[in-house]
Amino acid sequence: MLAGVFSGRGSVEDSNRYHDNVIKAGTIATMFWAIAGLLVGVIIALQLTFPNLFYFPEYGFTNFGRLRPLHTSAVIFAFGGNALIATSFYVVQRTCRTRLAGGLWPWFVFWGYQFFIVLAAVGYLMGVTQSKEYAEPEWYADIWLTLVWVAYLLVFLGTLWKRKEPHIYVANWFYLAFIVTIAILHVINNLALPIHPLGSWSYSAFSGVQGALTQWWYGHNAVGFFLTAGFLGIMYYFIPKRVQRPVYSYRLSIIHFWSLIFIYIWAGPHHLHYTALPEWAQTLGMTFSIMLWMPSWGGMINGLMTLSGAWDKLRTDPVVRMLVVSVAFYGMSTFEGPVMSIRAVNALSHYTDWTIGHVHSGALGWVGFISFGAVYCLVPWLWKRRGMYSRALIEWHFWIATLGILFYIAAMWPAGITQGLMWRAYNDLGFLEFSFIQTVEAMHPYYAIRALGGLMYLAGALLMAWNVYKTIKGDVKETEDEVEPQSEFVSAE
Ligand code: HEM
Repeated sequence: MLAGVFSGRGSVEDSNRYHDNVIKAGTIATMFWAIAGLLVGVIIALQLTFPNLFYFPEYGFTNFGRLRPLHTSAVIFAFGGNALIATSFYVVQRTCRTRLAGGLWPWFVFWGYQFFIVLAAVGYLMGVTQSKEYAEPEWYADIWLTLVWVAYLLVFLGTLWKRKEPHIYVANWFYLAFIVTIAILHVINNLALPIHPLGSWSYSAFSGVQGALTQWWYGHNAVGFFLTAGFLGIMYYFIPKRVQRPVYSYRLSIIHFWSLIFIYIWAGPHHLHYTALPEWAQTLGMTFSIMLWMPSWGGMINGLMTLSGAWDKLRTDPVVRMLVVSVAFYGMSTFEGPVMSIRAVNALSHYTDWTIGHVHSGALGWVGFISFGAVYCLVPWLWKRRGMYSRALIEWHFWIATLGILFYIAAMWPAGITQGLMWRAYNDLGFLEFSFIQTVEAMHPYYAIRALGGLMYLAGALLMAWNVYKTIKGDVKETEDEVEPQSEFVSAE
């Protein structure tokens, strides 16, 4: 059953149809990497909670320092990236009413991207890293990703070029901004000189404070363009489609698109408050970060208000609920982010678990839920089923995962603030009140709650994987009924 999907069979012939096999493969890969990335997240959460139990000095690859980037890359680039590639291929075909451009090139993008993930992951486990957060892979993996990404851009542009719709639907603007900007960020931040053509190590082209600024220009825009713009593309297609309503305001989508694009790119220096970066640059980063609140909420309002006249679906359709809760989390974390970028607030929050709580309210709530929602839509649409195998399982997934997120972030907020306050507490003689190890010990209960939350989130994803498997297999119950929203054919011509 699955062999046919991954082989690319049927992709060249029958060019009148949409190219869906590569999207099916992308959907399965999204599920696979979601489970893998979340599992590693739970493992490192347990390592932080019970360091003695989860410490194997003889096996270097189990070290927290190696598993942490494995987790972040697996969830962001493998899970999130596959969700973005699969949905963008789906959306661009349907909204342009044309087949994906480039013959077998979409397959190159799919397999090339999986190869990059494996290359990067093996490197991390072996201790190969250039030590830049979210850009850990070394030069050889970076060059390979650049080739794959250029192919992705060309397939996407080629499809837009041969569109049969005069209009380019707003979801495609967001996908295109994501693809183009990630290409620029990736190439510039990874400029490096390999030490040896056959060795894995390299020297970065940037050093010192310039290196830090370039890294966080990259790092924050990875959040802005990978974790935000791309997923807004998903929001703009899947929410209107699922609730069968038009986007609330097209004008708002234009305003928030351009303001988001122009403002995000300047916000990076908020990661470098109280460092050697000149203060004016820190203030610039803070100012643009606060300005970002408005375009972000423009997107949130547009997503939520698309439900106008269809609010009842929140009660009846758990997938709509998941999509809407994800937009609500997007709104929450894009309010929290600007607050944390204020220098005085950042003095307390930076380096603490408050940041981890902030990241995961966006990651689990926004990125995770919007991707799960899109996969729940895509699976019956692509495999031509009446609906998902079990609606009850989707309900279970939704509630277990939502509770898991709440455990996670409700633990990390007080943990972070406790940490920040303990670090800056002085006694009457002007000495630090607490030793560092005391602040670490104070985290134990919070870390245990976080691990439980993560476990629940993973359990929800496992239920989903079972549901997806049964749906693909064709075990859909008669009672499940969803409408197939698009025609199978590219156009009536
Ligand atoms: C089962 C769910 C998850 C668990 C248990 C989990 C756990 C963790 C842990 C323990 C850390 C390291 C924190 C530290 O160093 O103190 C971490 C970091 C991180 N995780 Fe997760 N995670 C989960 C899901 C996700 C998802 C779905 C995403 C993104 C889509 C994500 C993105 C990140 C990022 C970006 C960081 C680095 C944060 C920073 O450096 O500020 N995580 N996670």
